[in-house]
Amino acid sequence: MDNKDKVYVKFKDYNFHKALFKMEIVKNMEDYEIRDDDVFIVTYPKSGTIWTQQILSLIYFEDHRNRTENIPTMDRVPSLEYNIHNLDFANMPSPRIFTSHLPYYLVPKGLKDKKAKILYVYRNPKDVLISCFHFSNLMVILPSSNSIEKFMQNFLNGNMIGSCWFDHIKGWYEHRHDFNIMFISYEDMKKDLRSSVLKICSFLEKELSEEDVDAVVRQATFQNMKSDPLANYKYIIKHELGTRNDEGSFLRKGAVGDWKHHLTVDQSERFDKIFDMNMKNIPLKFIWNINEE
Ligand code: A3P
Repeated sequence: MDNKDKVYVKFKDYNFHKALFKMEIVKNMEDYEIRDDDVFIVTYPKSGTIWTQQILSLIYFEDHRNRTENIPTMDRVPSLEYNIHNLDFANMPSPRIFTSHLPYYLVPKGLKDKKAKILYVYRNPKDVLISCFHFSNLMVILPSSNSIEKFMQNFLNGNMIGSCWFDHIKGWYEHRHDFNIMFISYEDMKKDLRSSVLKICSFLEKELSEEDVDAVVRQATFQNMKSDPLANYKYIIKHELGTRNDEGSFLRKGAVGDWKHHLTVDQSERFDKIFDMNMKNIPLKFIWNINEE
């Protein structure tokens, strides 16, 4: 990324979005007061964040599940570090559910009491890369690019909002014993959403009836979220953040293995080498294609 294109600001070695960054929030983050029943979704960008926001919102809020309230997911499950709508977190009723892209070392220290729960959602990084590429071309506040090669270099070098994908996942994984954390993959959610919802409910100690689980799964499918204005962020990305065209959406393809349509064999092999080098001690399972077991 050229200097003129730099849309991030570095704070403690992590790249925040310059336009959304608020120093007063981030510099006090470590001391931010946590409640025992707080829940955090943690992701690297483009790994299924709004999907998981929708799932947790449906699990926790009956009114959301029954569609008797009209609150956008972003306001039910707001971003901890980018409080775009300036919500009053301190006065939000419990349980509060947040989302965050922060690395393990920047989150509130209170999370180390291991009471509040963290759901870490990860996705195979070639699909993350491609999703980021399209999203960057869609959003006015992100740099557009017509070169996957350059974009891949920036991704692999961590010249991105969210910094380096490898550092993010490795940091959280290697420090997992410091937190009350569960890892789940985007691809597992995609392969079997119902089982994933049940696994998430079990971690969150939330018991739902069969019908309620069905309602969560139904409203969290790609097609249903894509057409649901409360879930798809259409208004926010178009009118609050700004898009370069009218067709683009937060819910783009929602596929596993879309990277195959974008990366050349050579790019994919170079990516694999760097992945293998970085991830050799991380036993998390990655699914790169939809038919893979
Ligand atoms: P694609 O660009 O590959 O389609 P995030 O919310 O972290 O920014 O991630 C966005 C990615 O998650 C997008 O990926 C989006 O389509 C996908 N996504 C969002 N909701 C989904 C759902 N219900 N099912 C599958 N994928 C979903």
